Amino acid sequence: MKVLILGGGGREHAMAWSAMKSKHCEELFVAPGNAGTDRIAKNVPIAPTEFLQIKEFVEKENIKMIIVGPEAPLVAGIKDFFIDAGLNDVHIIGPSKGAAMLEGSKDLAKRFMQENDIPTAAHATFTANSVDEGKDFLNTLSSPYVLKADGLAGGKGVLIIDDIDEAKNQLDEMLLHQKFGKAADQVVIEEFLNGTEVSIFVLTDGDHYKILPTAKDYKRIGDDDKGLNTGGMGAISPNLLADEKFIEKVEDKIIRPTLNGLKKKQYDYKGFLFLGLMIVEDEPFVIEYNVRLGDPETQAILPRVQNDLLVMLQKTAQGKLNEIDLTIKKEFAATIVLASNGYPGSYEKGRRITGLDKAGKESIVLHAGTRSSAEKILTSGGRVLTVTHLSSQLKDAIRKSYGSAEHINFSGKYNRTDIGKDMISYMRKKEI
Ligand code: AMP
Ligand code: GLY
Repeated sequence: MKVLILGGGGREHAMAWSAMKSKHCEELFVAPGNAGTDRIAKNVPIAPTEFLQIKEFVEKENIKMIIVGPEAPLVAGIKDFFIDAGLNDVHIIGPSKGAAMLEGSKDLAKRFMQENDIPTAAHATFTANSVDEGKDFLNTLSSPYVLKADGLAGGKGVLIIDDIDEAKNQLDEMLLHQKFGKAADQVVIEEFLNGTEVSIFVLTDGDHYKILPTAKDYKRIGDDDKGLNTGGMGAISPNLLADEKFIEKVEDKIIRPTLNGLKKKQYDYKGFLFLGLMIVEDEPFVIEYNVRLGDPETQAILPRVQNDLLVMLQKTAQGKLNEIDLTIKKEFAATIVLASNGYPGSYEKGRRITGLDKAGKESIVLHAGTRSSAEKILTSGGRVLTVTHLSSQLKDAIRKSYGSAEHINFSGKYNRTDIGKDMISYMRKKEI
């Protein structure tokens, strides 16, 4: 089977790395890809939201499966586009536009959860015409205040503010002064949930589902969760906070009601579903739905999945996911992100990267913001590379991942130094 992966980050390199191990992979393309995907597959210079160009390429190359990495093409309706174009025989891994709105509109996601009795924070939604009502609603809540731009805002659209006057001021900024642009035409104001976050990744064909390895993402730029939010600076898998009992609760209260809710609306969902949860007094609450896998969680998760990725995804597309027995390696995975100094703010690009081969002999090195230039590999983004190591002991996975990352050099290289440290403490405390 010929396969096309859409996207160009570490998540997509992890998917490509996994797909290349499949005996069913006849040829693999990544659009647009990065210097890493270019080494193992063929990069295609098409943006993931250029549906017409993607369709022409898919027809020309006789591609039978498209794995969609990021949310933008899903929310823009790539699945519906292919069906409308009559290309029903191309398997698209990802939900239809209607279902992708679980990520594309926080207001719709909240309404969906209410309709289906899925536990989530209390909320109300406001527009430019109801700013004053929004401020009245803020008066009914206690600090901190959670303000969310309704639409996609590149992971930046959530504000958590301690001071009520500042919260009201930011509500004005979003609704009246276009902070976050059109994404904040509506703003969801939410009750603050005090708890511990955990991400659960699900693969579903709409009727059946498999729970993929759990992971913990390290979102802040600095050690000890200090500083600005990023796309994610590292991950470990499994996340021991999500034990078997907790996962059962999530299945019962969140996953099954979500899939039933989607079916009631007759939404087609054959793809990945990423649940951002808050654990409050042992109970799961949904903070957000994502209709894709996480980055860098994917780089920690996929190396632990022993099944043939393409078989799993083909069964997903055929509605036969129940025929798969998911086999997950017992080992721990630790993923370290190497970033450009300055990220998530401004940073320099075009820096030469060395030491990749040496690191790659010891650990799994996956590219994110990289590009090739002649024989060299250069930085081209904020998050540049990830290094993942698997080991039976979490502390060894972490140590070896950091050890391999040391071989890699580029000017302005930055990484957190505490990935997984909290989980080691948790294990000690719980005597795991
Ligand atoms: P989101 O983009 O919805 O995942 O929000 C970004 C981050 O804001 C989450 O990862 C949480 O850390 C935090 N957050 C979002 N909603 C809430 C909430 N209702 N209560 C507490 N923290 C929240
Ligand atoms: N690492 C979080 C995300 O992919 O949304």
